[in-house]
Amino acid sequence: MNSQKKLQVLVSGAEIESTVRKIAADITRDYRDKNPLLLGILKGSFVFLSDLVRRLDFPLEVEFIRLSSYGSGQQTSGKVKMVQGLKLGVQGRHVLVVEDIVDTGITLSFLLDYLKKKKPASLKLCALTDKPSRRRVPVKIDYVGLTVPDKFIVGYGIDCDEKYRNLPDICILEE
Ligand code: IMP
Ligand code: MG
Repeated sequence: MNSQKKLQVLVSGAEIESTVRKIAADITRDYRDKNPLLLGILKGSFVFLSDLVRRLDFPLEVEFIRLSSYGSGQQTSGKVKMVQGLKLGVQGRHVLVVEDIVDTGITLSFLLDYLKKKKPASLKLCALTDKPSRRRVPVKIDYVGLTVPDKFIVGYGIDCDEKYRNLPDICILEE
């Protein structure tokens, strides 16, 4: 890991666990009989989604899509690329998009527009963290875990230049 950067714990693994449990209860209430398709956005959502699905005790399916908006470092390029598309069909399905963090909202508004054209039966959004102070495009988040300050965060699947995804806590990355 980069020794010049300091990590400060923002959300502990235990707090994340109780947040995931609460989101799972809300999703269970709304999707128990709907055989939803949980659509994780790679790579950042992989830890959250894997913890979340293990708390959902009803039939569901999992799919991934890979989007990229960050070149490298901490600045979004503002342009979203689909690096890997869908294999499972979404038409007529109850689709729940699962994201690690909503920042400017550019990534999600792009994805939601793309998915709407494919005519899902319903389309909702679940995000573990939300950074509302940075929003540039409005996005409705149906299930939100934690509101975070305008700091660059890493851990629990969230990276900086592909590093730190393996941290069990969500940390602020300080220069
Ligand atoms: P948006 O398009 O600006 O909303 O950005 C969404 C994506 O940017 C997230 O899915 C993350 O991959 C990345 N991102 C936004 N904020 C952070 C952060 O604080 N740390 C690491 N990645 C971030
Ligand atoms: Mg992401």
